[in-house]
Amino acid sequence: MTTENATPIPSDKEFQLFQQLIQDKLGIFLPAQKKALLSNRLWKRLQACDAKGFGEYYRFIQSPQGRSELSTALELITTNETYFFREQKHFDYLQEEVLPNYRLGQNFRVWSAASSTGEEPYSIAMVLQDRCNCDWELLCSDVNRTVVEQAKIGIYPETRVRNIPPQYLRRFCRKGVGPQAGNVRVNAELRQAVQFFTLNLHEDFPDIGKFDLVFLRNVLIYFENDNKTKILDRIADKMLPGGTLFVGHSESLHGISSRFVPVKPAIYRLTGR
Ligand SMILES: C[S@@+](CC[C@H](N)C(=O)[O-])C[C@H]1O[C@@H](n2cnc3c(N)ncnc32)[C@H](O)[C@@H]1O
Repeated sequence: MTTENATPIPSDKEFQLFQQLIQDKLGIFLPAQKKALLSNRLWKRLQACDAKGFGEYYRFIQSPQGRSELSTALELITTNETYFFREQKHFDYLQEEVLPNYRLGQNFRVWSAASSTGEEPYSIAMVLQDRCNCDWELLCSDVNRTVVEQAKIGIYPETRVRNIPPQYLRRFCRKGVGPQAGNVRVNAELRQAVQFFTLNLHEDFPDIGKFDLVFLRNVLIYFENDNKTKILDRIADKMLPGGTLFVGHSESLHGISSRFVPVKPAIYRLTGR
């Protein structure tokens, strides 16, 4: 079906095929009211691939020749909205309640498990570089390869760095000049201090060690309860005893996981088993 402005809308049957595919590959559940979102995100790809409609595009991305297009389609389905120092209370808690427990000679390991374009992990890194007295490691992952590559580069328009405290902006960021005028780049010291890689929360995790603190913010909302429970189990297995978990403020683990106890809104601690 085609609307007046030529944006194709998938039929119910076509939508269900994509819904299943997205759930199988990413774990993300797209409810029926997200038909327009699917269409908006993918219709340019239909055009680029000369597909007559969603059915034809679906068959293409399922074929061996369509493998790379399948990755593109799945990336377009992810929502990557993020910003620096989002949910400030987590950064306050990190400084005031978590870091004072770590001393020189100890190793503090943090994982930003849905790191998007890097604003979240670089915010964490600024706080750690400024306030952490011990050695720290920050691993950052996302299923979307494109945002992971953007995060590694660490360049942001000036309009997107307003939430960075001025002293951190001066210390950790460089203003762009020439063709980069209007942009800001996270400095090399900070970029080299964090490790970015792709990781799908819906699959078994690689050997990345265990963490004292995990940021799993604003990503659980995209999953159904069964998948949330499985992801939280895998996350719990990657955490050190007494480790801290931050989720988004609209996310709750109530009735989803018994492996964590609430400490404050959107802040949990790993329980013993
Ligand atoms: C809304 S952003 C949240 C970014 C950041 N955590 C924050 O709170 O600002 C959600 C991120 O989760 C990622 N994501 C979605 N499904 C995922 C999956 N199955 N595995 C890993 N990351 C996923 C998306 O690519 C996106 O970058």
